[in-house]
Amino acid sequence: MDKVCVTYKIPEQGQRLLKRYELKVNTQDHFLDKSELIDFAEGASALVTLLSDVIDREVISRLPNLKVVATYAVGFNNIDIVAAKEKGITVTNTPGVLTEATADLTLALILATTRRIVEGDRLVREGRFEGWKPELLLGTSLKDKVLGIIGLGRIGKAVVHRAKAFGMKVVYHNRMPASKKEEKTLDVEYRSLEDLLKLSDVVSVHVPLTRESRHMLSASKLKLMKPTAVLINTARGAVVDEQALINVLQEGKIFAAGLDVFENEPDVPYALRELDNVVLLPHLGSATMEARMEMAIMVARNVTAVLEGKQAPNRIV
Ligand code: GLV
Ligand code: GLV
Repeated sequence: MDKVCVTYKIPEQGQRLLKRYELKVNTQDHFLDKSELIDFAEGASALVTLLSDVIDREVISRLPNLKVVATYAVGFNNIDIVAAKEKGITVTNTPGVLTEATADLTLALILATTRRIVEGDRLVREGRFEGWKPELLLGTSLKDKVLGIIGLGRIGKAVVHRAKAFGMKVVYHNRMPASKKEEKTLDVEYRSLEDLLKLSDVVSVHVPLTRESRHMLSASKLKLMKPTAVLINTARGAVVDEQALINVLQEGKIFAAGLDVFENEPDVPYALRELDNVVLLPHLGSATMEARMEMAIMVARNVTAVLEGKQAPNRIV
């Protein structure tokens, strides 16, 4: 019987679908490091992983029975796709089912930063609320402001729809510009990365982390942003040069940042935690009960398909 190893407990709906196999789930509240993972997954035909599991060439070579790595995430920058492909191992992810949840969280961060929600909450909790004041914690409105979307994939587009409801204008940057027809339907305009950064009031990142996108928002790029602008990142921390971002925030070169992801998770630099003009979340983009349940079912279906010799529905390689 095929052995399926799951590196961290996922919602029951997914585990139930995998019970037909010899199922081994890490039920401790503990992430496996590389050597623990290799031991844990010994003899596995299928491996269900989290985005924090590093599935590199070494791990792949140490698991010779492996037929499929099904990551419980849409992003797959933690997996060496080339090494997997060389060994004929299928890699799958969970696209689509977390799009709306992540777009919702992006809007939550846009509103939290532009309207200073977290600062306000802190003020009340600390007993510093002295009554309504004409200029207490003023933020900025969204109507007629420009949202710059970097990465017009599924999530980027879902953010566009939401931003339109707030009366925002949207420009985007993408490796491949969308078709004229799609631009018209979405009511968005293409800009170079530099122009987008110069003219946007809200910049939101929705690209996957790749060699090309690492530090795409470098110190020199971040300096192009308006002093009144906010940066939102719900994609991957390393797309932004985190130290450069800390510098522009400290120097007041941008208004605020809303971050759901960090360069070296779970480490969040102390300098970032000290700033008032940032909202920091523990990677909650897809954290709705609905999305996480759908993701669990999706990984199980991908594993099952490969083990039955069929094409995986969400195959990357
Ligand atoms: C979460 O960040 C994901 O990639 O699913
Ligand atoms: C991810 O699902 C994306 O395409 O934005």
